[in-house]
Amino acid sequence: MRRKVAAGNWKMFGIKADLTEITAIAAAADPAVDTLICPPATLITAAVPAAKGTVLIGGQDCHHLPQGAFTGETSAAMLVDAGATHVIVGHSERRRDHLESNEMVRAKAEAAIEAGLIALICVGESLEQREAGTTLVAIATELDGSLPNTSTAANTIIAYEPIWAVGTGHIPTPDQIAEVHGRIRAILRQRLGDEADGIRILYGGSVKASNAAEIFAAPDVDGALVGGASLKASDFAPIIAALA
Ligand code: G3P
Repeated sequence: MRRKVAAGNWKMFGIKADLTEITAIAAAADPAVDTLICPPATLITAAVPAAKGTVLIGGQDCHHLPQGAFTGETSAAMLVDAGATHVIVGHSERRRDHLESNEMVRAKAEAAIEAGLIALICVGESLEQREAGTTLVAIATELDGSLPNTSTAANTIIAYEPIWAVGTGHIPTPDQIAEVHGRIRAILRQRLGDEADGIRILYGGSVKASNAAEIFAAPDVDGALVGGASLKASDFAPIIAALA
């Protein structure tokens, strides 16, 4: 039985005054659901006490090396030191804006796992790929290239985020989500054998209270990676409730 995950990616939103939202999310958290918030790196240390031991705190990215002269970067060990338990790697915004390749995402995931973090690896097709009918091929290439051989059910979560659904209000149909999640599960089985059955696969892209139940009813959907609707407890709490 895979535990459900309600994960929030705050992206470049949030200052200290917003930590009250994390405390409010903690009040709404359900013991049956792993609730995770990934605030900006500047807030991680302060987010841990605000989360009251009920909400897990994660980073949004990490470097692939443990330390070095890399201005502006954050290592996986630094995230652990700040109190994070998870880190997102390979988000489409990082792949797009920082030209992160599958090899780089895989190296980051390996570094995260090595440091003791749970790596939340993102994959997703572009609108062009969706319209060209190459979604499953694109997902297979990204996932196979981004997944470490060291991945297990305990240290890896996959997030399927169609790029065209991120922040747009457009979402795939439940059948389309189920098709991609099924393909992801099959690839995980090819690579990791029975271990694959324990890996959580989240859907991300325009998840909100009004569509959460429909998305979560699709087979092989173990939760959500939520952007905009994770910033306010009033928006995120119903999404957690839909998973409980
Ligand atoms: O990582 C979550 C994200 O990319 C989805 O964003 O705002 O569409 O929920 P949003």
